Amino acid sequence: MLVSPSILSADFGNLDRDIAMVNRSRADMIHIDVMDGVFVPNISFGFPVIKAVQKVAEKPLDVHLMIVKPENYISQVRDCGAEIMNVHQEACLHLDRTVQAIKAAGMKAAVTLNPSTPVAMLEDIITELDMVLLMSVNPGFGGQSFIERITGKTARLRELIEKSGSKALIEIDGGVNDRTAPLLAKAGADIVVAGNYIFKAEDPLAAIETLKNL
Ligand code: DX5
Ligand code: ZN
Repeated sequence: MLVSPSILSADFGNLDRDIAMVNRSRADMIHIDVMDGVFVPNISFGFPVIKAVQKVAEKPLDVHLMIVKPENYISQVRDCGAEIMNVHQEACLHLDRTVQAIKAAGMKAAVTLNPSTPVAMLEDIITELDMVLLMSVNPGFGGQSFIERITGKTARLRELIEKSGSKALIEIDGGVNDRTAPLLAKAGADIVVAGNYIFKAEDPLAAIETLKNL
């Protein structure tokens, strides 16, 4: 299992220390949650903070934009050193155009689905995607409980990917812990995002190891 710790649950007063912990761990990337208070009912942080993370991070940045009109920020996201840019399907009127623009800017393109958005919405774009991010909570906050039906949705997405010949990886975000991650591994997930489970743990490195060893 690939693991992407979400710094939304990190200690922002000690961000360097928390990123250094992720650098030392076997985590595969760093998940960065940007919220605009419009697409989701919360505001997190923006580009100056991502730039500060970029300076210390030794892992690829997996940037999840919970914002309206993400297509307006592609070059800024790239300039923050993002390897993967996640945009919500629900936020993109011209999703194909946005996906192509992300790739043309030299990043991997990922599309995120809210819990209520069916996998079928991606049928006609799945072969263009590097990753699909399924939300297993309603986006906006860390520390929420896992929506159980996302395991079935993960399996359906796996089927669509196999059937279409797409190379997209499946990432799951929200309420991931040592109980839910094994269910997701079984359903065909490639990557799990985890915020609270890692950063609020007594031993965050051990929490990352638990997820890595699934
Ligand atoms: C939710 C964010 C998640 C969040 C996950 O809107 O997209 O990445 O940080 O946090 P946990 O793992 O605590 O549910
Ligand atoms: Zn996220």
